[in-house]
Amino acid sequence: MATEILSVDFPIHVGYGCAHLNPPAFNAYRGSIVHALHDPGRGDDHAIEYIADGILMVAAGMVQEVGPAEELVKRLPSDGEVTDYSGMLIMPGFVDTHVHYPQVDVIASYGAQLLDWLQDYTFPAEARFGDEAVAREAAAFFLDELLRNGTTSALVFASVHPRSVDAVFEAARSRGMRLIAGKVLMDRNCPQDLRDTAESGYEDSKALIEKWHGAGRLCYAITPRFAATSTDRQLARAGRLAREHPDVFVQSHLAENTDEVAWVETLFPNHRSYLDVYDRYGLLRERSVYAHCIHLDERDRVRMGESGAAAAFCPTSNLFLGSGLFDLQAADTHGIRTGIGTDVGGGTTFSILRTLGEGYKVLQLQDQTLTPSRAFYLGTLGGARSLYMDDRIGNFEQGKEADFLVVDPNATPLMTRRMSKAKRIDEKLFALFMLGDDRNIRAVYLAGKKV
Ligand code: GUN
Ligand code: ZN
Repeated sequence: MATEILSVDFPIHVGYGCAHLNPPAFNAYRGSIVHALHDPGRGDDHAIEYIADGILMVAAGMVQEVGPAEELVKRLPSDGEVTDYSGMLIMPGFVDTHVHYPQVDVIASYGAQLLDWLQDYTFPAEARFGDEAVAREAAAFFLDELLRNGTTSALVFASVHPRSVDAVFEAARSRGMRLIAGKVLMDRNCPQDLRDTAESGYEDSKALIEKWHGAGRLCYAITPRFAATSTDRQLARAGRLAREHPDVFVQSHLAENTDEVAWVETLFPNHRSYLDVYDRYGLLRERSVYAHCIHLDERDRVRMGESGAAAAFCPTSNLFLGSGLFDLQAADTHGIRTGIGTDVGGGTTFSILRTLGEGYKVLQLQDQTLTPSRAFYLGTLGGARSLYMDDRIGNFEQGKEADFLVVDPNATPLMTRRMSKAKRIDEKLFALFMLGDDRNIRAVYLAGKKV
């Protein structure tokens, strides 16, 4: 079949198996293409590539090429298809570097700061995940909600129950989604029915690593909830597991709330700081991701930067739980890898667009700024880099996995009106972060397949 430009009204889908007996050798998508080439820092005009009328070529689930339509259209092979998304932005899928799937029913619960919120809402909700049917239903809802919001990769907390990890991995596998997840470790300071032990937590995590880590697009994360809910013995076991599996991820919470920080100081009086607890147990390293990282001092930040661990900046959660303001400038100064986390259910949205909008406001309150390019980078390639996955996802470099979004900048009358005044791509992106959400996400592709 000859290459053809389809110009049908949105949505256009020429999928495998309908017009063809064999899948086409490639698929091409035409629209306004935008992706980050590297970190724009505080201002690098070349960090974001924008092609107003471009083509993204995908073959065997990978990005083959991206370029101006005028050029590419002439040399497209004859055995493929072009889908026309004119008027839409085509961008890489978002990366959520911190989110809890058993907290879908906790989102938007009134009136508490972190420690009360955990007791009153979160622990009771997570206790239900011992029931496999509950876990499966929530996992399916959760992943569909991520995808509906344009998030194609995520680092996810399950509950303390090993089966809850199976449920979310099975749901991710059936959707073809890139997911990192882990069983929560907690053996103290939580309800009895949510406790594991240092030994059972180690053994269960080890079995889950063997079962899931590196299975297709899935990876495992060793997941001590936070220092306050693990004994020394459990943290030591988690550190041992991290040493035994250097390519496995580690995820936890760090320095989120001042009462929490004070509590951790009393629980670990021999450690210099909250961060030092994780560090001394071997949990601070490349592929470790710590959510929040608000109440840190200079030495903590130096140590975090040199360790290669990443911070997950979770602005909607930090505002909702009244936790504090993440200092992005200080993180940058110390070379700390930073990604964006929705932190649902402490966070109030699954949308990375809205989360970036709130991130901008958190920095405004500190006389800092989040440029549109930087925000875009943090939601895509920067998130991938925090997870040491920027060789596979995050932008449209040749050979990367083709996880991408078709974004309608004109999803509502207000957005249409505002976009008509936005001439440059950075202006359009900024308006999208401030006004946009799931309504803008018109199509999502995972490894080249529309979901
Ligand atoms: N600290 C320990 N557990 C949690 C949690 O579930 N959410 C948040 N935001 N912080 C935590
Ligand atoms: Zn969290």
